[in-house]
Amino acid sequence: MSSPKLPIEALLAEERLFEPTAALREQANMKDAGVYAKAQQDREGFWAEAARSLDWFKPWEKVLEWNPPTAQWFIGGKINVSYNCLDRHVKTWRRNKAALIWEGEPGEERVLTYADLYREVNKFANVMKKLGIRKGDRVTIYMPMVPELPIALLACARIGAPHSVVFGGFSAESLRDRINDAQSKLVITADGSYRRGQIVPLKRNVDAAIKECPCVENVILLKRLGDAAFIHVQEGRDHWWHRLMADAQAYCEPEAMDAEDPLFILYTSGTTAKPKGILHTTAGYLVGASLTHRWVFDIKEEDVYWCTADIGWVTGHSYIVYGPLANGTTGLMYEGSPDWPEKDRWWQMVAKYGVNILYTAPTAIRAFMKWGEKYPDQHDLSSLRLLGSVGEPINPEAWMWYHDVIGKGKCPIVDTWWQTETGSILISPLPGLTAMKPGSATFPLPGIDADVVDETGQSVPLGGGGYLVLKSPWPSMARTIYGDPERYVQTYWNRFGKEVYFAGDGCKRDSQGYFWLLGRVDDVMNVSGHRISTMEVESALVDHHEVAEAAVIGRKDEIKGEAIAAFVTLKEGALSDVEKVSELKKHVSEKIGSIARPDAIFFTAELPKTRSGKIMRRLLRDIAEGRALGDTTTLADATVVAKLKSQYEES
Ligand code: WTA
Repeated sequence: MSSPKLPIEALLAEERLFEPTAALREQANMKDAGVYAKAQQDREGFWAEAARSLDWFKPWEKVLEWNPPTAQWFIGGKINVSYNCLDRHVKTWRRNKAALIWEGEPGEERVLTYADLYREVNKFANVMKKLGIRKGDRVTIYMPMVPELPIALLACARIGAPHSVVFGGFSAESLRDRINDAQSKLVITADGSYRRGQIVPLKRNVDAAIKECPCVENVILLKRLGDAAFIHVQEGRDHWWHRLMADAQAYCEPEAMDAEDPLFILYTSGTTAKPKGILHTTAGYLVGASLTHRWVFDIKEEDVYWCTADIGWVTGHSYIVYGPLANGTTGLMYEGSPDWPEKDRWWQMVAKYGVNILYTAPTAIRAFMKWGEKYPDQHDLSSLRLLGSVGEPINPEAWMWYHDVIGKGKCPIVDTWWQTETGSILISPLPGLTAMKPGSATFPLPGIDADVVDETGQSVPLGGGGYLVLKSPWPSMARTIYGDPERYVQTYWNRFGKEVYFAGDGCKRDSQGYFWLLGRVDDVMNVSGHRISTMEVESALVDHHEVAEAAVIGRKDEIKGEAIAAFVTLKEGALSDVEKVSELKKHVSEKIGSIARPDAIFFTAELPKTRSGKIMRRLLRDIAEGRALGDTTTLADATVVAKLKSQYEES
């Protein structure tokens, strides 16, 4: 296990306890403390009850078929996700309730009621059908945070075409690889987007990507920038969204999907350079996303709920689109950056729309802490009643700041642990039941069988640490890695046997059983809550013609959690100057995307390696974080690392 990234002994001594208030206990959506035991005694019964809150075309015959590591949930059931997110609401008074309140970065506002969203989704589903998209065809979506993005997702769900959303910050090459891996016939994009007042050239990236994607037949192009975007429209292949919609039929019959039919693929970084296409299926996913959204965020009919993630990540899939819409929630959606035009943009929006629930990431909270209280203090934040955190461990100082400065001491904080692979939140407080400790995600949710184990897979007693595992299946779990089932088994279901899911996170439990997540135990970095593999960045670096070798590590960073630091050996004769540093940073941005741009690049004649030739990243991390070097006895040549350390300290 790599060295813990938080001062864990200090964390475990945390004595501050925040109990739910009496009012919360009384009003919470889940207030029966017996729910944990009940779910444990009859896990399948528990999930079946959760599944009954959805509308089924045909009920399931069997709740679970578990042939480790293959799980099938709600077998025989027929259901449609878009029907559950739209049709069943438009049949009620919710028809004219706001589903999405949207604000563009330049300041435009749009409100879409459930009826509006229903109409757009139906029409867009017909648009895709007319372009030949059928049940089972994959569709890649590369779009800004505009209402058409959830519309596209829901329309895919309506016709049973699994979507693969690629975050707009990924480069043309990353997009190309993801399109080809999924073999998508259709790409949906926009002419561009706004970010900090700048234009993001989405369509240009699509053009570059699909030059090498023979599978793509059509591109649907949303006009977001209009004349500001200088784009090329390829006759026959590229179609304007608004033109297609103008002729579209108003109603599209939702496809009766099998519970286990694929709903989407979402790529995430693993320990190799190739991202994994995590596949989620229909019913189990929606059961997990909707139940957790209702219980963890304690959603009430009249709430305005804001999850600040991008839909390009799983948090946006489950907690902007599917969970909230299945629950008939009013959600706020924002296109741009939190510091544009000023660092109070979010707080201005909280006050303007009366946001009640805010769900964001520790990296954002730490950035706000650094910018200072004056920004939130300029606005009335009294509408807030519950706060959430996701993406990485939240340090207790950030937790307390969030609690005191944003929540004014009155909002519970749900620190939610989960992953792309888990589909929905698995470890989190339930606001009406759980006493919170700053920095702890507290306990596994009802129905979730989490444990902490040692190297041999033995459960570690309370007070100890090890690897986080899940010992029973849950409905929203990933079903496979698209196109690579073997890798799925090897990555998640092999370390401790095929019945135990290995999450890849380190975890400790304190004497009261609270879970304290410690960060990744593999070569995956967590940069501002985004998973990036060290291997992916290394291969982008060595792809540069002057780089001989590269080793990448995540070093502790006050705002980002981890920042990317690269140690690079150049080829003979290449110049190691400042220009080379910027050139290499740019190269990585172009290969992967700006999110993977290294913060620091450090040139070295040699990298510290073991006798078998393995780069010792642990020692590089010691150097980059200014620590004394750990054990160096396994090195082939100990002078390499000593030299590197003194060189680093001098630079
Ligand atoms: C980390 C994001 C600690 C963890 C939903 C996990 C967290 C990875 C938390 C998944 C949290 C997420 N506390 N660590 N509350 N939430 N993580 O797939 O390392 O983008 O394995 O899913 O983020 O990242 P992913």
